Amino acid sequence: MTPQSSLLRWYEKNGRHDLPWRTSDDPYHIYISEIMLQQTQVKTVLERFYFPFLERFPTLYDLAASDVDDVLKMWEGLGYYTRARNLHAAARQCAGVLPTNAHELIALSGIGRSTAHAIAAFAYREPLPIMDANVKRILHRYFALKARDEKKLWEYAYTLFDPLHPYEYNQAMMDVGSSVCLSKKPLCASCPFEPWCEGKNTPLSYPEPKSKKIKPIRTRNIIVYQREDRYALMQRQTRFLSGLWGFYECEKLPHPLTTPLGHITQSYSHFTLEAYVYLSLHEMNEEGFEWFSLNEIAQLSLSRADHKVVSLL
Ligand code: ADE
Repeated sequence: MTPQSSLLRWYEKNGRHDLPWRTSDDPYHIYISEIMLQQTQVKTVLERFYFPFLERFPTLYDLAASDVDDVLKMWEGLGYYTRARNLHAAARQCAGVLPTNAHELIALSGIGRSTAHAIAAFAYREPLPIMDANVKRILHRYFALKARDEKKLWEYAYTLFDPLHPYEYNQAMMDVGSSVCLSKKPLCASCPFEPWCEGKNTPLSYPEPKSKKIKPIRTRNIIVYQREDRYALMQRQTRFLSGLWGFYECEKLPHPLTTPLGHITQSYSHFTLEAYVYLSLHEMNEEGFEWFSLNEIAQLSLSRADHKVVSLL
């Protein structure tokens, strides 16, 4: 028995074989799943986003021919919206024809080394290992590596990799990472790598724990300007939440406001937003704002925070 054969046997018995991107051999389906799964849990992708997205954009051609706002609309609620804009850009870069190897995939917007390897291994059986957060944790423990060093980790990834079974090996690594080699409570007794794992006696020391950063709280005011039955929103051009529509946001209130609507909070990866929301009939002539009815707002792509604001109206 080798670590690789042990892993493959474990995968046969315990793998999540019925995930729709594992029962499909359509490279486009696999590509979409990999992008969605980069920063989102399997359950959320499966229950709310994967199927509606593919129904709306059945092929990469359809995606390339679409308006980026429609892609953002289908991404609404999934977060990390750069992924949606990159998907749309990539579809156009390759004119709706997905490259068939990792080398060319990596040239497309939003496809990094690990994602290129994942798509190439799953869709075309190219013998390349992947490197997501789960795989990193397994490698750190398996080789008892304390320091976080991405370059070294890739070298180790190749030494454990099974080039004869790229598809099964990579899918299995993800499953071991998400169900056995857990970050807080690893289940070493059930692990296919247990006989070979150098870190099994003290798995929590690999990698060295990061010092905990406290998420900063960003306090803002959100002013919903109203003219008759219409409200002012603008499409963000900023890096953060780029492309999504939002209400006017400021740190200091520009004039006395009579109607507080309430308070919302929204947690993002690097800060928590706390916002006091006001309704204002005051004149507003800020650049870039457009006026929409509630029905029209429902057609726009909004961040979760702005959805919370709408529900206060
Ligand atoms: N996360 C990223 N890719 C995945 C896959 N193919 N299966 C399950 N989880 C994943």
